[in-house]
Amino acid sequence: MTFTQRHLLGIEHLHPTEITTLLDLAEDYVRLNRSAAKHSDALAGLTQINMFFENSTRTQASFELAGMRLGADVMNMGMASSSVKKGETLIDTALTLNAMQPDLLVVRHPSSGAADLLAQKVKCAVLNAGDGKHEHPTQALLDALTIRRAKGRLHRLSIAICGDIAHSRVARSNMLLLGKMENRVRLIGPPTLLPSGISEFGVEVFHDMHEGLKDVDVVMMLRLQKERMDGGFIPSEREYYHRYGLDAEKLAQAKEDAIVMHPGPMNRGVEIDGDIADDINRSVIQEQVEMGVAVRMAAMDLLARNLKAHRSAQPASVLV
Ligand code: NCD
Repeated sequence: MTFTQRHLLGIEHLHPTEITTLLDLAEDYVRLNRSAAKHSDALAGLTQINMFFENSTRTQASFELAGMRLGADVMNMGMASSSVKKGETLIDTALTLNAMQPDLLVVRHPSSGAADLLAQKVKCAVLNAGDGKHEHPTQALLDALTIRRAKGRLHRLSIAICGDIAHSRVARSNMLLLGKMENRVRLIGPPTLLPSGISEFGVEVFHDMHEGLKDVDVVMMLRLQKERMDGGFIPSEREYYHRYGLDAEKLAQAKEDAIVMHPGPMNRGVEIDGDIADDINRSVIQEQVEMGVAVRMAAMDLLARNLKAHRSAQPASVLV
């Protein structure tokens, strides 16, 4: 197995063989999660702390369940009611937690770079569960596993990422991962929601859904991230749905067996038609959620192995 990372901060740092190693291990966890006794001892004795500075339903639940199924002691810090509200800095919070000897720290934060900063300050493994508009590596990995299972491969596919690219860490991590695995990535959205200079990343850019979706294998829709917008990015939600919302007519441009994805939470009737989201013949949205738990188990398992190896190679005095 090849996976040399000490932290999972972004897809940017991963080698394609590390991505494959992680997805292969996640397959084992998919099987475990579908069995009656969903339990392994991979993280037994280890402490996992989840620090979510932004609201989250599925990602936090997914990390929590993943840790519990691997036998870790899992603690959720309710950051909304924490000392951060009293003015404590991220670094001070991290140092306080570090003193409690955690092994895995899962962090979601509204600022890009927050996870990297933490990783420099603490002695445990840090997993980025989304930092600002920067990266959301476990989302891209769970998307990759979902695609690989549905299409039988994770290379030479044509994949459209549609909607609010500019504010999306999901889009960024997916672009990086899908590019590393040699797929053709198309970005589709209004010019106001596509960062300028994006085509330099080896992606094709479209402003028209009908054109962009032509013959693609995968249609990945994104939520309109209103909380990150500070002005008039779209004329109205109605107009946005008309031009960029995924409906049956636009989806008909894609390959007949194209799959539809969405990281959630969804705005039905804004970026996606509710019937398409629920169509079990096209939509793999529920499968994405299932793969999320398995991918997070694999990520924490691999990081814990590297952590143990690193610690046993250190003289005891360095560890205190
Ligand atoms: C995404 C996120 O938080 O970046 N959601 C998620 O992790 N399931 C996407 C989003 O919020 O739109």
